[in-house]
Amino acid sequence: MSSPDELQITPGMQAYIDKNNAYLAQRGNYIKNTVKKWKFDTIAVHGLYNVEDAIEDYQGAIIEPVFMSSSQAYRDSDEMECALAYQIPTWCYSRIANPSTYYLEWTLALLEGYGFDGQTSACSTSSGMAAIAAATQPFLVHTQEHVHEKRNFLATAQCYGGTFQLFSIRYMEERGIECRWIEDPSDPDEWASKIDKNTRFLYGELPSNPGQGFFDIKAVADVAHSHDLPLICDSTVATPALLRPICHGVDIVVQSATKSLTTSGFGVAGAIISRGDITTNIPNEAMKQDFCLYTKYLPNRDTGPNLHPMQAILTLNDMRTIRSKMDMLSRNTMTVAEWLQDQSMVESVEYLGLPNHPLHDLASKYMWLVDAEDDPLYRKPVNRYGHLMSFCVKGGRENTRVVFDALQRIWRATDLGRIKSVATIPAISTHQQQGEEGRKLAHIPPNLVRLCVGAEHPDDVIADLDQALNKITASSKVSMAGAKS
Ligand SMILES: Cc1ncc(COP(=O)(O)O)c(C=O)c1O
Repeated sequence: MSSPDELQITPGMQAYIDKNNAYLAQRGNYIKNTVKKWKFDTIAVHGLYNVEDAIEDYQGAIIEPVFMSSSQAYRDSDEMECALAYQIPTWCYSRIANPSTYYLEWTLALLEGYGFDGQTSACSTSSGMAAIAAATQPFLVHTQEHVHEKRNFLATAQCYGGTFQLFSIRYMEERGIECRWIEDPSDPDEWASKIDKNTRFLYGELPSNPGQGFFDIKAVADVAHSHDLPLICDSTVATPALLRPICHGVDIVVQSATKSLTTSGFGVAGAIISRGDITTNIPNEAMKQDFCLYTKYLPNRDTGPNLHPMQAILTLNDMRTIRSKMDMLSRNTMTVAEWLQDQSMVESVEYLGLPNHPLHDLASKYMWLVDAEDDPLYRKPVNRYGHLMSFCVKGGRENTRVVFDALQRIWRATDLGRIKSVATIPAISTHQQQGEEGRKLAHIPPNLVRLCVGAEHPDDVIADLDQALNKITASSKVSMAGAKS
């Protein structure tokens, strides 16, 4: 961060800055020469927390400590002034930074940047929605030259209901910032045709919740960059174990860490992860150079969507086994999706892993289980598609409710990414508020059930679905057979 104009660096302050610069150089070397050489699993388990940190600063604790303290004390006024001017990487106040969130952020930055040559950084937030707001708002400022310009941005219409509401109500209705919905994100020409001189960013969710939308990341990133714009992606459903969008040209990744990153379901958390030197037409050098650090130190300092330290460590702890979990959960989901396809009362199944899904080939280009080549189980690249899928029940909303209400092992909840199987009907829950029109735009019919398959044995998940599908009465089966013939 650049220093404020009025900052007078005294010799005492300089001593602190020199000491901390030496520490930053040492940390940079450790990342470059050690951590960046580790496999994904090792980074997920250790991140930046090592024996030296533990012994020197944290009484040897082998697990990253939870720092509940609201603020940090300083040795003297020189150290305090340096810290508050962001000249030294101390944490000062937990709304801005905290040692527990620090370790989570570094692990996330390293995992999303796995296989990427450049720098990545992360900023944790109190929820996935806070992350989406933090990732998009800095691009929606009025620039000095164009105070009255009609700002706009592009976003995939197939997205989480909360995102749809943020973009269509908070930004469009309340602030007059136009959201241009992309209806077929797999067509790069649609993206290109909707950009003009007032466009600020391109936003895409992939795979989308619940509709399994997907697009060619590299092609859309090229479109964005050729107009000096950033591409922001919500990669919650994939997690870095299956997809690392920054490696394909994305500028900023959004994660609802509430979901598959923390399968336990112990709370709500979010994060943004950015590459160094993002592409943007906003004239703000600090934001361009390190978007996450900028967001953390300035906009988020002023709006306060920080993550609680306890939640940071719970999230970090869940993430240590993310690769093997996403592998198992994806395999379970594939088994369930294949079974559902053959059921007479199921109209359609949406899962990117199914070879007959129209976006299967495109998704297969990007969604790989990280390090499968080095896994003794596989020893070759392996596609994996995550554990979110959906299916439509024959017989409309009534039959859908019959099946849904009959589920015994699968939990009815507006949740996903859990170690336990969870289902919802998006039209009456996650995507209820966007109304019929909004749901049509996002391809969400009333008979669609979203299912996130957990770590139970897939046979037991199938048995539960089987008994629930069988609850559709014989009479409705007969009447539908009649309607068909
Ligand atoms: C794809 C996606 N992004 C973002 C969010 C919002 O995350 P959170 O609930 O942590 O605010 C969700 C929530 O379901 C989601 O599914």
